[in-house]
Amino acid sequence: SHFSMDPAPLTQKRILITAGPTKEKIDPVRYMTNHSSGKMGYALAEEAAKMGAEVILISGTDSLETPIGVALVKVESAEEMYNEVMRFFPDVDIVIKSAAVADYRPISFSEKKLKKKEGNLVIELERTKDILSELGVSKKQQFLVGFAAETNNIEHYAMDKLQRKNADMIVANDITAQGAGFKSDTNIVTIFHKDKTKKQLPLLSKRDTAREILQEIVLKMGDEKQ
Ligand code: CTP
Ligand code: CA
Repeated sequence: SHFSMDPAPLTQKRILITAGPTKEKIDPVRYMTNHSSGKMGYALAEEAAKMGAEVILISGTDSLETPIGVALVKVESAEEMYNEVMRFFPDVDIVIKSAAVADYRPISFSEKKLKKKEGNLVIELERTKDILSELGVSKKQQFLVGFAAETNNIEHYAMDKLQRKNADMIVANDITAQGAGFKSDTNIVTIFHKDKTKKQLPLLSKRDTAREILQEIVLKMGDEKQ
């Protein structure tokens, strides 16, 4: 298509990208988190900026360097991420939710350090808000992209998330595949679209995977305008 000829196809587009894990505090010394490195989200932010976009990166990690030309907003908990995403959402054209958001958080935060006792410890958890689902409900002009990290039944779960969350596109990865882990610099993803088409990408660097994802977004946003 003619889009691949354009070196900066995201010029005049504002993109919101979330990246990394969230941290849910238990007490002043402990928290719950996950294995997300944030590398995929940072690669998306860097490549989107190179393609001309104005990029806002809402990040749960501080172990990666902020890409040039990207506005960083640092968050910790799922609730903080929710609040920041909602603040920027009305004014963006594209949202890519690559963050690994906690599904549960402790029902309460203990101001005092929990002391160990005999027997087992039970920490009660409550659901966090599903940010992507809420965006799906209130979206207007925004093109909405979710991720799906799966260990099995990839296509089934990815299509389910696409429909349930009212996203325009889901990027699914099999986190058990060789070269596709959280800490890895490579990824193997399949892109699922609302129109039921899919595009399977080979093993690529996260940078090249990011470029392919962004090209697919440009293509589909172009289609929607026709
Ligand atoms: N997501 C979100 N807010 C949450 C949980 C997930 O916005 N509280 C987003 C993720 O950023 C991702 C997509 O939803 O883009 C799918 O996340 P995933 O964890 O794969 O799916 P869940 O719906 O949480 O279902 P499950 O973890 O049970 O597979
Ligand atoms: Ca989840």
